[in-house]
Amino acid sequence: MINQRSRVDFGILGAGQLSLMLLEGAMTLGLKGSVLAESQDDPALLTLSRGLVGRTRSVDDLSLFLSQVPTVLFENEFVDVSLIRQACRNLAVPPNFFPSLNAIEILQNKLNQKKILSHLKVLSSRYRVIKKTEIIEAIENKSVARLTKQFEREFPNGYVIKWATLGYDGKGTWISGSRNRVRDLELLSFVENADKKKVDCFVEEKINFDCEIAVIAVRGVKGQVAIYPVVQTQQRDGICREVSPMAFPAPLLRQAKAIIEAILLELQYVGVLAVECFVSRDQIYVNELAPRVHNSGHFTQDFTLCSQFENHVRACLGFELGDTSLTHSQLDFVMVNLLGEKVATIAAPLAPPPFGRLHWYSKTELRVGRKMGHVNVLVPRGQVKSEVVARTQRWWDNYCESL
Ligand SMILES: Nc1ncnc2c1ncn2[C@@H]1O[C@H](COP(=O)(O)OP(=O)(O)OP(=O)(O)O)[C@@H](O)[C@H]1O
Ligand SMILES: [Mg+2]
Repeated sequence: MINQRSRVDFGILGAGQLSLMLLEGAMTLGLKGSVLAESQDDPALLTLSRGLVGRTRSVDDLSLFLSQVPTVLFENEFVDVSLIRQACRNLAVPPNFFPSLNAIEILQNKLNQKKILSHLKVLSSRYRVIKKTEIIEAIENKSVARLTKQFEREFPNGYVIKWATLGYDGKGTWISGSRNRVRDLELLSFVENADKKKVDCFVEEKINFDCEIAVIAVRGVKGQVAIYPVVQTQQRDGICREVSPMAFPAPLLRQAKAIIEAILLELQYVGVLAVECFVSRDQIYVNELAPRVHNSGHFTQDFTLCSQFENHVRACLGFELGDTSLTHSQLDFVMVNLLGEKVATIAAPLAPPPFGRLHWYSKTELRVGRKMGHVNVLVPRGQVKSEVVARTQRWWDNYCESL
């Protein structure tokens, strides 16, 4: 049950690390949020103990939670919007949702994102939907050869198969490469899982990019927009490992800003929006849109005047937006994600590194590839960024080994 001793200014559907950091961002403004958590052990509930334990896919639990908060924010776009609408119908005064349910419903599907991008004439990789019959045939014949041969003909530069929804950390993404039996089996289980989850699949052209960038912006209820410094992201196996600033050419930055402004305006979007892009020969291809605070914006907690978390709360609660500029524009920094390397129970607290700022998510279990926290590190003058990253990784490896 929500602790009623003091007022609640907003609620968040979900209680993972993004919720936790949104609540921290709100705290600096003297605002109090509550969460709908799936479990008592979810990071935001465990740490800040204000919220309700319930299922985000139960109309009753949703109705109870929504009746107790005036405004609702999301930490994850993969919510059941029709269920939320149904829960609202049970209430005399439903809460406000930011971003709107309409925006969430559109952006939770990558095929809808493609349509918006094409409408706005924003470049994105060429794609086509994979027909249900193609998937069923591959599953029934336990063969993917026909599927892959067809894609190779259609996308000679390589292709990527994606789930239209529910993907994260590379889990809804299968990238083509050399074929062998293991890869074929992987692809078979990839399309099988999509079929089980009733998720559409599409295939798109593989972009031979020079680098990946993330653009994060926030739009207020009155339409004001603030954009964070554009950063470079580095992924391995589809999971982001590190984020850092780069000296991008001015035309590229202008292009990136124009893209995000157009999307925000088109959707009449309120809150933080993240746009992930590929840069290839000075062209920007939008990869995907995330209607929420985003991992690639965690650097803003320590290196900008107002973090993405505080700004999301400011925007959604109708306040003026905070300053998105870097606190020290001449300083170099890097955000390093801490990913689980084995399965273990987290019992003892982690001793923070002496050289960076740790943001720990308080998850109770370590799992392979799971984001457990991140470290924001300033790169001292005269030091090489890769050495700073390696040092952080060594510190984290030692901790994982000690468990
Ligand atoms: N068309 C493409 N061409 C080349 N690489 C790609 C393509 N699509 C995806 N990738 C690679 O796979 C990574 C993960 O893809 P994507 O961001 O679409 O998946 P996701 O699981 O939804 O990720 P997220 O965790 O960011 O939500 C990308 O960051 C990129 O490195
Ligand atoms: Mg991505």
